[in-house]
Order: sequence, then C-alpha cells, then structure tokens
Amino acid sequence: MTSFRPAPAWLADAVFYQIYPQSFADSNGDGIGDFDGITAHLDHLAWLGVNTVWLNPCFVSPFGDAGYDVADYLDVAPRYGSSDDLARLVDEAGRHGIRVLLDLVAGHTSDQHPWFRAAMDDPADDRYIWAPEGSPDGFVPSPGTRPGAYLPNFFAFQPALNFGYGRTHPAEPWRGPVDSEGPRANRAELRRVMDHWLGLGLSGFRVDMAASLVKDDPGKKETAAIWTELRHWLDGTHPDAVLLSEWGEPEVSVPAGFHADFFLQFGGPTDGLALRSLWSNGEGTVNEAWDPLDCFFDAEGRGSPRPFVEAWRGAASTLGEDGFIALPTSNHDFSRLNCGPRTAGQLPAAFAFQLTWPTLPAIYYGDEIGMRHLPGLPGKEGSVLGPRYNRAGSRTPMQWDAGPNAGFSTAPADRLYLPLDPSPDRPTVAAQLADDTSLLHLVRRLIALRAGTPELGPGGSVEVVHAGYPFVYVRGGRYLVVVNPRREQASCRYDGAEGGRPLEATGIRIDAGTISARGFGYGIFELA
Ligand code: GLC
Ligand code: CA
Repeated sequence: MTSFRPAPAWLADAVFYQIYPQSFADSNGDGIGDFDGITAHLDHLAWLGVNTVWLNPCFVSPFGDAGYDVADYLDVAPRYGSSDDLARLVDEAGRHGIRVLLDLVAGHTSDQHPWFRAAMDDPADDRYIWAPEGSPDGFVPSPGTRPGAYLPNFFAFQPALNFGYGRTHPAEPWRGPVDSEGPRANRAELRRVMDHWLGLGLSGFRVDMAASLVKDDPGKKETAAIWTELRHWLDGTHPDAVLLSEWGEPEVSVPAGFHADFFLQFGGPTDGLALRSLWSNGEGTVNEAWDPLDCFFDAEGRGSPRPFVEAWRGAASTLGEDGFIALPTSNHDFSRLNCGPRTAGQLPAAFAFQLTWPTLPAIYYGDEIGMRHLPGLPGKEGSVLGPRYNRAGSRTPMQWDAGPNAGFSTAPADRLYLPLDPSPDRPTVAAQLADDTSLLHLVRRLIALRAGTPELGPGGSVEVVHAGYPFVYVRGGRYLVVVNPRREQASCRYDGAEGGRPLEATGIRIDAGTISARGFGYGIFELA
C-alpha cells in the first residue's frame, strides 16, 4: 500500500454534523437558509458537542440538483450570503471549536459552468467526454454548435468531467486515456479548488461521487490513482486537512487516499445496514434488490446486527490504522433516522449505538431531535429520483422553537424552501432543551461521554457479546454497551457484567449472568 502521512490527529475525535444549508436557518427572511443563519446557531452545535460540520454544496449553481450542479467552484451562491459571510462562519466556528468541511463535487459540473459553455462550442475541448453523432446510450445531445453528444454523470445537466477511461478502444474514440490533456487539466483544477478553500481556513471536503471519476475502470484502479495523487499533494501542502468520501467502500477508498469513507445506505449489499434506510420515502421499500435485508433498527425486531458487524469488520481490518469509517444517522439522499420501521422510540438506542461504535459518527441536522421524514412532498431542486424515491422528505427546515415557521425563517410559510413538518407535536430544539430527558440531551451526554472516554472512540477495541436483540458489545475491555431497538423486551446471557456502573442507561437490568433490556432499552456500563 502507498504510504500517506497519518490522518491529522483531530480526525479520530471528530463528531460530524451535516448541514443542508438550504434548510438550517434563514437569517434574512427569504425562506432559504444561509451562512449567517448557521453562524447564529453555532452555540447550539458547540453545546451539543459536535466538532466538525460539513456543508452540502454552497457554490454558484442553477440548483437543478440542490447545488450538486456547480457553475463556479470558487464562489458561493449569493442566496447563502457572500464569501465574507462564509469566512466569518468558518472563523466563528473555529472559535467554538468547530471545523468546517465543504462539499467537493469532483466528477461533474453544471451544464452552465463556463468550462462546459466553452466545450459545447469547441470540438477541440476535452474537459468533458464527447462522442460523435449516433453515440452510445446514456450520452446527451450537444446543446451547442459542437456536434455529437456528451456523457452526463448524474442528471443530464451534470456533464461528467473527463478523467479518462480505464479501458480505451480505438473504435470508440471518446474513451480517452487518463493521462491526456483534458484529464490532466481537470486534476489540476481539483487541486486549485481545494487549495482555494483550504487557504481560507476550511478543514477539508466531503467528496461527492468520489468513485465516479474514471469511466469503465475495473476495480476502480485509475480512479484510486487520481485520489492517491491528490492525497500526496494534500499531505505536502495541507497536512491538517481531510478528505471524506462519498464512496461507500472504505476498503477501496481509504487505501486510495481518503482519510475516511461513509458506510452509506447504497453501497454493497451489507453496507450501512444497521441504520440504513429500508424506506427511502416513507411510502414503501425503494427496491427489494437494493435492500434485501431487514434493518436492525426496526421496531418489529426483524433484523439482525450481524450483516453490519461483518461488513464493518471486513472493512475495518483492511483499514487498520490507515483511515476511518464514518457512520451517518442519515443524509440528504436518504430517509431520516425517524422514518418507516425506525420509530421515534428507537432513536435513543440508535444514538447509543452510533456514538459508541468504533466509527466516526455523522449526525444529520435535525436527527438529534428526532425530526421526522416527511413523505409525499413536491419535488424540489432535483429531489425526486423516481416514483418511489423522493429526497425532499429528509430536507425540510430545521425545527428550532415554537415560533412561526418553527424559528427557521420569518418568511411567509408558503415561501419556505420546503414545508415544515405540519404535526402539532413536531420536535423542536427549544422544547428538548427545556427537558433533560429529551433525545437532544441524551445525544449531548453520549457525545460528551465519548469525548471523555477514548475507549469508546474509533481506536478502541470492540468485542461483540451478542449479535441479536439485544445487541451487546464491550469497548476497550471495559465499557459494556447494550442496545435493544425493538419494541419487545429482549435478553441474553453474559457473565462479567455484574456490578457494572451505569454511565447512561434506560431499561436495562443485569442480574445473575443475564442482561435484560426493555423494549427500546439501551445502556452503557463501566465494568467492575
Ligand atoms: C451525490 C449527492 C446527491 C447528488 C448526486 C449528484 O450522491 O449526495 O445529492 O444528487 O451526488 O451530484
Ligand atoms: Ca436566507
């Protein structure tokens, strides 16, 4: 394996918090969240104990895909404020002990990006992938004077940047090699973009569709080579910065050069299984083939933690000390933690698991108060990907308090980016702050416990004692964790827990070699 500089020390202690900027806090009453809104709520994040925020794309964009269609990588979208506002956010965050990561959309641009505007009229330009008239499936007819068609990376308006093909073929001239001029220029641009933001005090990037760069790339060999090159460059120029991939295969992405990779809901068949979205829109199972297994965090108790544990073990043993696996509660592409088979009652157990498993936790904004996934919303900025896959449900405005628009915005309700959860008992930060038995307080205590207990972090050992209901494991030979996310009580045998001191526990009894957990019970004990 290529040797990289070890990840910056701060990463092992990272507790990520993902902010979808459209929906977090609107400071100027236009109905859309913005930088100043985030800055105004840094106290909340610091109080909660998260220390690394990542923002979905906040760059100039026509917003056909919520900003994942970038039209200028070096400037921010005016609707979020100015570059100075972002600089102030980063600065203030630093004062609160919080680092900020941006989203690097590496594989494609918007069709409005000047690079593409130039390419569509210039047959000599190879920054994108162009095929002649009568080109293969999947290509999109040229919108300019250049004949032929271009290859999109996701939506049709997101032309794939040309990083070359893993396999070239003389009869298919669009399969260019990875070292030609276009790919070299694109790699140089990635460095330029990173350099720009890191120079302004950002701490790294979540990298969008990181596996997508080189096309027809068996084993992702050439794509990995690009990230390896970028990591070496980063190690030399910005050694304190991190790259976190949206790849979903840490055993491939971390050896390639990423410091961490998400265990996502759409990776291999066992990926992200413990928390994964069995339901993506709250209306039905998205795709049986995609999601063939029951979720462990299912109140009916049909799942098992085993597929997750095995997948994690496989990835973690490949990684060793070389990088990390990040475990998100959910994200802007998948249903929230509080959705479908995962009811509000289970959320404490889900957080007790997420914050004590040897991964880097990533909390999606609002999951810390158990915001609900809202099914059936109208599509917004590319949120609808199919009849049964609507991402809008996990992108609704943050619920701050009991005021108008839940404190998210002073705009008229019909001008909000997306509608709020209409239920009268929707959870809010203010209500949960006032109640120390709330989920919010629990999440805060769990983060603090983790911060003060190195054995609970990503480096400590884990011994699985019972991979079922309840799920029981020991961290660092000293901390027993019991999690029962089903409605029914559950118990198992374990000698050695007697006399354990509860650090955080609800509904767990340890007696005569038996651990009993009430429905939705959870506990963390320091063993005698
Ligand atoms: C990633 C993003 C998703 C976006 C897609 C295309 O999967 O998370 O939101 O639509 O890439 O950029
Ligand atoms: Ca605003």
